[in-house]
Amino acid sequence: MSISYCKEKKLWILETKNTSYVIGVDEENNLQNVYWGSKLPYIGDYSPADISKGHSSFDFREGFANLEFPAWGGLLYSEPCLKATFSDNVRNLSLKYDDYEIVRNSENVSDESMSELRIDLKDSLSYRLRVRLYFRIYEEFDIIEKYAEVINEGEQPVTLESIQSGAWYLPEGMDYRLTHLIGRWSGETQLRQTFLTEGKKVMESRRGTTSPHANPWFAIDNGKADEDYGSVWFGALAWSGNWKMVFELSSFGQLKITGGINDFDFSWHLKPNCTFTTPVFTAGYTENGFGSASRLMHSYQLKHILPKEHASEFRKVIYNSWEATYFNVNAENQRSLAEKAASIGVEVFVIDDGWFGERNSDRAGLGDWFVNRNKFPDGLAPLIKTVNELGMDFGIWVEPEMVNPDSKLYREHPDWVYHFPGLPRTEARNQLVLNLARDDVKQYIYNFMDKLLGENNIKFIKWDMNRHFTEPGWPEAAAEEQKEIWVRHTLSIYEIVERLKAKYPSVVFESCSGGGGRVDLGILRRMDEFWPSDNTDAFDRLKIQEGFAYAYLPKAMVAWVTDSPNWLNGRKLPLTYRFHSAMMGTLGIGGNLNHWSEEELKTAKEMISLYKEIRPIVQEGNLYRLLSPRTNEVAAVEYTAKDGSEALVFAFLHSSQFGVGSKTLYLKGLESKALYKVEGSDGLTSGAALMKKGLEVNLKGDFDSKLIRIKKVDYI
Ligand code: DGJ
Repeated sequence: MSISYCKEKKLWILETKNTSYVIGVDEENNLQNVYWGSKLPYIGDYSPADISKGHSSFDFREGFANLEFPAWGGLLYSEPCLKATFSDNVRNLSLKYDDYEIVRNSENVSDESMSELRIDLKDSLSYRLRVRLYFRIYEEFDIIEKYAEVINEGEQPVTLESIQSGAWYLPEGMDYRLTHLIGRWSGETQLRQTFLTEGKKVMESRRGTTSPHANPWFAIDNGKADEDYGSVWFGALAWSGNWKMVFELSSFGQLKITGGINDFDFSWHLKPNCTFTTPVFTAGYTENGFGSASRLMHSYQLKHILPKEHASEFRKVIYNSWEATYFNVNAENQRSLAEKAASIGVEVFVIDDGWFGERNSDRAGLGDWFVNRNKFPDGLAPLIKTVNELGMDFGIWVEPEMVNPDSKLYREHPDWVYHFPGLPRTEARNQLVLNLARDDVKQYIYNFMDKLLGENNIKFIKWDMNRHFTEPGWPEAAAEEQKEIWVRHTLSIYEIVERLKAKYPSVVFESCSGGGGRVDLGILRRMDEFWPSDNTDAFDRLKIQEGFAYAYLPKAMVAWVTDSPNWLNGRKLPLTYRFHSAMMGTLGIGGNLNHWSEEELKTAKEMISLYKEIRPIVQEGNLYRLLSPRTNEVAAVEYTAKDGSEALVFAFLHSSQFGVGSKTLYLKGLESKALYKVEGSDGLTSGAALMKKGLEVNLKGDFDSKLIRIKKVDYI
């Protein structure tokens, strides 16, 4: 059993394949985390929860304990998971253990199932607030999910001022090093590492959506872990709105990580008999370094997070029109691009921005989701028919949450955007954010999407979002509900997508927010993949993709091959380099194929056909980082097939120096005693040799690249 209760010690022991997470009730009925790390062999190793530790009158009892769900009140001065105000203005909580239930328990910790434990806490000072904590254990992946429900069992409303998904504690006495992802538009998911000192390090978004500036993922080690060795605790939040993670190191060396919905400008009016449910906070532990932490996250996402409709299908090769035709899409240029795309093996043809309303630039048209008849005189039907006849699926771009003031929609409904009466409405990219907290706006978006999908044979939606919130006012709402917009907006998006997915299960959804501004586990439960960045320079992409794949699976990482010189930085890169870089995730093409030479189209066709052969390994295999683009002239990533039959090595040279033309790569994840055929070399090589003696790769000049296939053929 993966969840057991030890009555004598009042401990719940949650076991995954290699780890355990232990929770106990102390003498004062507080719920505490007592252990999280490698599985221990003997139950006597787990001590009961203890409340007797303390230091002085300034630090003792609940202020000193590893409370599972610290609520603000009493002696707690650190970051709480819950802060509330009651109707009589009491602002104090004392959550004590009440009850538990093992909701599901798998028989065998090594199988692929999930077990679930529920523990109830209750405010002991009779305010009738119940907090229901859920722990889901994914045995196979050494991963635990936490979330909470706050239930108002009283007769008066309660104002929630902060409600987090949970708290995680790390063993004491370590030098804690935080690894995290930062970024900006066109430079998303950049890896950073920093040692934590006493105090708080906060990562967050206050922008209404996940944002590219920080990503809700973390890893903690003791400063000594590397790709293959060392303890790493890692986690991610499943939330696509304002979020916050706080890494708080106490003066006594206790590291607490809290995370959930950002409490900035937040409050929730919880009526009697109502429940507030937090987003899920996922975390895991491995003894085998950052590489293992990433692979556990990838496998967990593949099996448990990706929307079930397309989870087990390989992602198709996409063509996207954006960089080729920008807003100048029309029936003629799209048909000609579609023909070229089909001829090189593309499987989904996606028409990007510009097909609707008066959308000739980013200054007008958002909100008017009807076909622009100047560009498509007979509507979309003829183009979709052509695309289908060419053997491809048809996909389309939308930005449902937005409106240009210069649009029919805004002229009819100026009150549909977030605003404060009488104050200017700040525009960004000439657009305003629709108030999705309003039911009528939510319904409008659902309706136009329903119509679009119902009337056209569309199999792919790129859902974009190109600005963050300002003036988050909702004039029609009651005073006590004003600050709920941040949460309601995200819940509305989730609801719309869920409804659309239920009605149109064959449609694949891509999450985009000016690139990778909405990349998180919350949207990945509803949308099938991400557009990680508008930066399509294949060299810059290596770093963006490296950071992305620390947290998220390659199957969800779309990458296009675009034109050279690149639109963003003017860099010229060989076509094969651009392909190799984009083939490390879900391959797409974004260049203007009408300008590609016969030679280039021929290469593209060969590369796409090669990609179709290797995509099961890229999209669902195991990823091993060999050399980081952050620190080396040569960057290399290896993928191994889940069944071990094949490995792929992608290697990229920035620029050769001093005549050195080769690099030895030490492969990973192979079978020592298996014999492999390395593409381009004679004879066979053992797995042990490829891992210990290494594989020499020749790369020359500037921006050279190689994709090497390594097939298992025999055993020694
Ligand atoms: C931002 C996206 O990231 C781009 O790929 C493109 O769809 C543009 N928006 C269109 O406006």
